[in-house]
Amino acid sequence: MASPVTETEAVRVRVAGKVNLALRCGPRRPDGYHSLATVFQAVSVFDEVEATWAKPGRFTVTVLGDQADLVPTGESNLAAKAARLLAATVGADQPLGADLVIRKSIPVTGGMAGGSADAAGALLACAVLWDLDITPDELRDLGAQLGADVPFCLVGGTALGTGRGDQLAPVLSRGTYHWVLAFSAAELSTPAVFAKFDELGLAVEPLEAPPEILNALVSGDVHALGKSLVNDLEPAALALRPQLGQVLEAGRELGAIAAMVSGSGPTVAFLAANEPSAVDLSVKLSSLGICRAVKRVSGPVPGARLVV
Ligand code: C5P
Repeated sequence: MASPVTETEAVRVRVAGKVNLALRCGPRRPDGYHSLATVFQAVSVFDEVEATWAKPGRFTVTVLGDQADLVPTGESNLAAKAARLLAATVGADQPLGADLVIRKSIPVTGGMAGGSADAAGALLACAVLWDLDITPDELRDLGAQLGADVPFCLVGGTALGTGRGDQLAPVLSRGTYHWVLAFSAAELSTPAVFAKFDELGLAVEPLEAPPEILNALVSGDVHALGKSLVNDLEPAALALRPQLGQVLEAGRELGAIAAMVSGSGPTVAFLAANEPSAVDLSVKLSSLGICRAVKRVSGPVPGARLVV
């Protein structure tokens, strides 16, 4: 681990959002979660988490940037929970505290794991700030206690997620994929989307990540990837937000290879053939004025990383 950070220095971590190239969803389990077989790809929309020393037992969060007013800053903030969990895990005898500043670009409650990304960022930032002797595996285990997507946000890249989405295996992926993201003005609650999924009786069994996706990624074939993207939560998100259908359709008409709701939504992700096509699509989509914002990103990118 890096040399100890002084009490006036800040540790900054950059952490990416994700899209699910496949999100196959089974029935609700006794613990309230759903079994998933998902293929995550980290994409280049980043939050930054900065940690500085605070007096023992003090954990504060300040949120800046896009939609900052939508993020709770009290004890329910997932990054604050992450810092507290890490401090409690390394031992009550260690006098630890942290002030966290989160600079948001990942949409809030947008289906891109923004809250989980901030938790992952806080775990790494505090581990370095406090100069802890903790392994990446241990950080991932702590992450899984905070949320199903937190382990992936630590790792990034492309990965297969099973269990609740927290059991990760690497996926071989060639090349860079270009996406256009359409951010929505209104949030969509993840538990509400899963509840709608149950109500609609959409559970898939047996669960399997589509082999076509894994093959497309190995060969770096964007057109094959576009044909095999799948999100079992999409009908539930559309049932709660029918307007998203218009956004999906608009992107398809403007030349996207594929269009899908990202995770539980309401962010919509469009796969473009290449970078110039993504530029063209994002300009045209923006001019329609049917989304809060349009952003061009690429993936895969790494997970939580120190900014030096
Ligand atoms: O793990 P996380 O707190 O991010 O999940 C938010 C909510 O999403 C859960 O409370 C649950 O309602 C739903 N969820 C689920 N099955 C998963 C992941 C999330 O039902 N595998």
